[in-house]
Amino acid sequence: IKTGFIFDLDGVIVDTAKYHYLAWRKLANELGFEFTHEQNELFKGVSRKRCLEILLAIGKIKATQEQFDSWMIEKNVDYLAYIENMDVSEILPDVPKVLDYLKHKNIPIALGSASKNAKPILEKVNLLSYFDVLVDGNNVTKAKPDPEVFLIAAKQLGVKPCNCIVFEDAVAGIEAANAAGMISIGIGDAEILNQAKYNFKDFTEISLSFLDTLIIE
Ligand code: G6P
Ligand code: MG
Repeated sequence: IKTGFIFDLDGVIVDTAKYHYLAWRKLANELGFEFTHEQNELFKGVSRKRCLEILLAIGKIKATQEQFDSWMIEKNVDYLAYIENMDVSEILPDVPKVLDYLKHKNIPIALGSASKNAKPILEKVNLLSYFDVLVDGNNVTKAKPDPEVFLIAAKQLGVKPCNCIVFEDAVAGIEAANAAGMISIGIGDAEILNQAKYNFKDFTEISLSFLDTLIIE
């Protein structure tokens, strides 16, 4: 088999975007301003550091390096508290169907995420064993839309980038997959993710025969 599949985590495998949102909103409120769901769209696929930079720009707040570092820590402490009790019930619909099918066909599977919390989350929802390769926020220097995260994943999978299929819910993630020369599949709003090669609302719309068309044996 020459094909590899790469999954983003947040918004593709689990719906952690709501917890990221709560933690950022809490910080914004403490700093005296609102943070809306619409603004949270900009944070999808974006590194923690970049998210804080955007948040402070929204609130028109100038931070010292010390404040910046402590707010980064505070946001993550709050986020970790929100996800502490996550379990298998928070896996997005039909994700196990797709993972099971790929595993049964012996197709290599990677995670390609910007999150530094990826591994503990996969452990909480009991999906870690599906992944042959994990590339996350701890392994990359350039954030999506840079293709680095997916190119490292392809290399570790031993699959050529052009034979990798990427599932992504973020605009920056689709751009990263396209820049890597991979086949991008948007999960979510097709209008927002209009740069993707294929679009699906969620995995319930993805048939096993469609997956077969992507696999080169
Ligand atoms: C994902 C999420 C982003 C988040 C980033 C970093 O890409 O979509 O919203 O900011 O990961 O996550 P972390 O868990 O390291 O703060
Ligand atoms: Mg995502």
